[in-house]
Amino acid sequence: MPALLERDAELGELARRLASVRAGAGRVIVVEGPAGIGKSTLLAAAVEGAPVLRARCSPLEQHAAWGLARQLFEPLRGSAGWDELTAGAAGLAELALSAGDGSAHAGDAMHAAVRGLVWLTTGLAERGPVVLVVDDVHWADPPSLRWLALLAPALAELPVGVLCAVRSGEPASAPDLLAEVLAAAPEPPVRPRALGVEATGTLVRARLPDASGGFARACHAVTGGNPFLVGALLAQVAADGVAPDDETASRLETYGADQVARALERRLARLGPEAAALARAVAVLGPRAPARHAAALAGRELARGAPPRPAASPAAGVSPRSAASPAAAAASDPGAAPPGALDLAAAARAADALRAAGLLDPGPELTLSHPLIAAALYSGMAVGERAVRHADAAAVLMAERAGPERVALHLLRTEPARDARTVAVLREAAARASARGAPQSAAEYLRRALGEPPPAAEEEAEVRLELGLALAAFMDPSAYDHLDEAARAATEEQRGRIALSGARALGLIGRFGDAVALCRRGLAAELPAALRERLEAELVTNGMTDVATIGEARRHLRRGAALELWRVTAGMDAMMAGRPAAESLAILRPALDRRVLAGEPGSLLGTTATLHLIASDELAEAIALCDELIDLARPRGWLIALAHGCMMRALALIRAGEIRDAEADARLAFDYKLPVAPTPAMLWCLSFLVDALVEAGDLDGADAALTAAGQQAGPPAGVLAAPLLLDSRARLRLAQHRPEEALADARAAGARAAVLGLRHPILAGWRATAVEALVVLGRTAEAGELAREQAELAERVGTPGARGGALRLLARAAAARGDAAGARRGGADAGARRGGADTGARRGGAAAGARAAPRDDGAADPLALLDEAVQLLDDSPARLEHTRALVDLGATLRRANRRADAREPLRRALDAAGRGGMALLANRAREELHAAGARPRRTAASGPAALTPAEHRVARLAAEGRTNREIAERLYVTQRTVETHLTHAFQKLGIGSRDELPGALAADERVVALDPAVRGNHEDV
Ligand SMILES: Nc1ncnc2c1ncn2[C@@H]1O[C@H](COP(=O)(O)OP(=O)(O)O)[C@@H](O)[C@H]1O
Ligand SMILES: [Mg+2]
Repeated sequence: MPALLERDAELGELARRLASVRAGAGRVIVVEGPAGIGKSTLLAAAVEGAPVLRARCSPLEQHAAWGLARQLFEPLRGSAGWDELTAGAAGLAELALSAGDGSAHAGDAMHAAVRGLVWLTTGLAERGPVVLVVDDVHWADPPSLRWLALLAPALAELPVGVLCAVRSGEPASAPDLLAEVLAAAPEPPVRPRALGVEATGTLVRARLPDASGGFARACHAVTGGNPFLVGALLAQVAADGVAPDDETASRLETYGADQVARALERRLARLGPEAAALARAVAVLGPRAPARHAAALAGRELARGAPPRPAASPAAGVSPRSAASPAAAAASDPGAAPPGALDLAAAARAADALRAAGLLDPGPELTLSHPLIAAALYSGMAVGERAVRHADAAAVLMAERAGPERVALHLLRTEPARDARTVAVLREAAARASARGAPQSAAEYLRRALGEPPPAAEEEAEVRLELGLALAAFMDPSAYDHLDEAARAATEEQRGRIALSGARALGLIGRFGDAVALCRRGLAAELPAALRERLEAELVTNGMTDVATIGEARRHLRRGAALELWRVTAGMDAMMAGRPAAESLAILRPALDRRVLAGEPGSLLGTTATLHLIASDELAEAIALCDELIDLARPRGWLIALAHGCMMRALALIRAGEIRDAEADARLAFDYKLPVAPTPAMLWCLSFLVDALVEAGDLDGADAALTAAGQQAGPPAGVLAAPLLLDSRARLRLAQHRPEEALADARAAGARAAVLGLRHPILAGWRATAVEALVVLGRTAEAGELAREQAELAERVGTPGARGGALRLLARAAAARGDAAGARRGGADAGARRGGADTGARRGGAAAGARAAPRDDGAADPLALLDEAVQLLDDSPARLEHTRALVDLGATLRRANRRADAREPLRRALDAAGRGGMALLANRAREELHAAGARPRRTAASGPAALTPAEHRVARLAAEGRTNREIAERLYVTQRTVETHLTHAFQKLGIGSRDELPGALAADERVVALDPAVRGNHEDV
């Protein structure tokens, strides 16, 4: 091959980008252009001499699960350092890379494999810069593309480059994923240009030294300077023995893919039937075909006689003579083809001939020298003929006991024949692809299996179920249609089981309504009692989440059944209705004690039970359940379960006043669910994230999350998460000093909750927000009214968290009325002075319904109410409510001119708020302390309280003795991110080493135990 011509600019550009990769700023680098323009050549030249991992994608392997990833890592597997590389989370990559059936893995294999590959790549990068060269990435298999898409954003902080070539205008196997990968490139693609006249002339003379100048110019004109076409044209001219002179030049016409194809047929004909058959066999088998496979396949062609081929049109305008060449005539004579199989020696000679002609790459495995050659050969076969060849290929591979996934690639391209064996192989291939985390490939195989179709109706239903489950695994919206069709086409005996697995898969990905519909269909069949109970419970737990199905769900509620799943749903129903917690928990608890949910993997029932526990302030138990799920999900890379667990734990942690941890959990869940989950499912994470951010004082962050989720306008009607989200947004608006909007959102939340029959004072906590907004707006009568309603609901539920929270609201409302009354009585002067207003409050406050002893004049005393609230909450895990009550108590005392008394609750509040990251409350406590004449420490710029949630979490894990890598794996972030967080944490804690972490973090915890005198030292008096 002549030296690379006219590529200085492109090579320089690539060298610059690759240098930045080596310097640690990794990236996606794209080379784009039409077929034959020189992309592959440019890629190879750009990385010449550097250690790289390479893969070349092909049309056949678009459906090969992890085909691209396997090619890239193949050379490393089995190498010395491999075990070390795949220790820890990177070991999940083995799912994708090993030929095993992956059956040991349960959970979400797709994310597990993708994560494992990301870890493997980052691990590799620790050893030095890595460049992944991916040629013809438009043919990459979807699972591998998903990995690259996930890797791309992390590249910037790794010395890892993904250098890929993409053919412009070529339809991609997974356009969205490909677009995502390509869009991650920080700079526009490098586009190799067509060769100029001069460079074309150089190519011409290298091949045909006698060529005339006119001929060279004509070569450039008819090929447009495309180097592949120039090469093909020259090969044809040379083979035809035409003189490269001006006369030939005058006869040259536009030279493109069609001309290449026709010339190729003639060249093959000259090389003889064996070489021709072998070339076609390789075109069918795809790149890197073992010679024995190609020989076997070519042998079948030869045995059958020459295949019918589309009639070749007369030779393209080089020389009229070439069409009538004797060799071509010989090849089209079936008599000239030797009968029987092609033996290996003959095949080896044929392969050599093809290599000599430049049609095959050098190397023992057989690969056609250019995809355009493969395409020409392939499209040269008639459609039916191709299908026959692929059936042959499948047979050859099966005879060698090749893996079902390899065989399936060919079965995808055969004619359907209602063949049971074909269906069996495709199902087996799909099962393996699914288990190895490639549900997209599995879906392809199963679609083809359905098209076969399976001879027996029962099997057809099973195949459709498998297809639906595969689609659900990558959240494809068409999953439901197939699952429903499977349940409908099923026999009475199959139906319930199919409906249940489908419903659980759909519930897990947040398609609650679809899950209900499937349960409904399943329940229409005759069912064994246990299956019926499962289906009913699944219907209820999904159906409760939307007004459209909640009535149906309630009709399916029942009490009493062997598996005790009914306890989860009946308990949930009682909780939602605002029944006493003691009563609703008594329904649920036996099911938890007997761990019945452990036997129901993939069901939404676990989430339901956790929600019930949190609403009832059984926070430790709820967190333990979440931890269990998270610990199960994390090592498996089961991201959806991890996100579920983190999401619910976030809610529990918010109630527990652990805002930093809550924010980190909610963030993980939100980031995972936002792009993939349907809105009704995503809203839960969003609501908890907004709550956490508001309490953390990050109001802009909360607004940004709402915007990112498209929820500034408001959640869809009828969904259970909507009242929660609206209330979260209301609290945000309140904190933003936008009380009118806060009130509107709180009221909207109330209306949504009412439609769903949601009467729980915490899950439907909108009254609390509304009371605070109304107080700010001076609408004290309404505030009092709502506070009383909340108090009644809370009394009924009966948990200290609910009751304490409601008492605080009553106090707020009472104080506000007092303010108003005082203002009226004392005139503008007294009303303007806060102390005066408070006096009014204590004299004239008239809130009723409080348990706090009314004073002699029958009015509820805000201070008494707050005292009682604090006492109630002192022993409750609801630390957020507790801290709120402390702040309000301190503030009220202070306004009553009891400044000394005010300091104690305010200091307690400030300590608690600092510990848990309740910045909103900490600010208020600090302001009140100032007003009370104390000098609290400022917003901590140092010490544990200054850590962000992410820093805090990383620091805690490091304090437990985990390595950066372990922490990164655990938190699903890069190691670089961990390092950054730790550096900041060290600075803020004023320490220099890991060993000091436990002490530095614990300093914070100790504050709780300190007595008030010592605590005083905590302030920078
Ligand atoms: N700059 C160049 N100078 C000379 N020959 C080239 C050049 N670029 C590509 N070629 C030749 O053109 C043919 C097609 O190039 P290739 O890189 O395979 O194109 P693509 O990958 O864009 O389809 C190859 O035979 C290659 O040797
Ligand atoms: Mg190429």
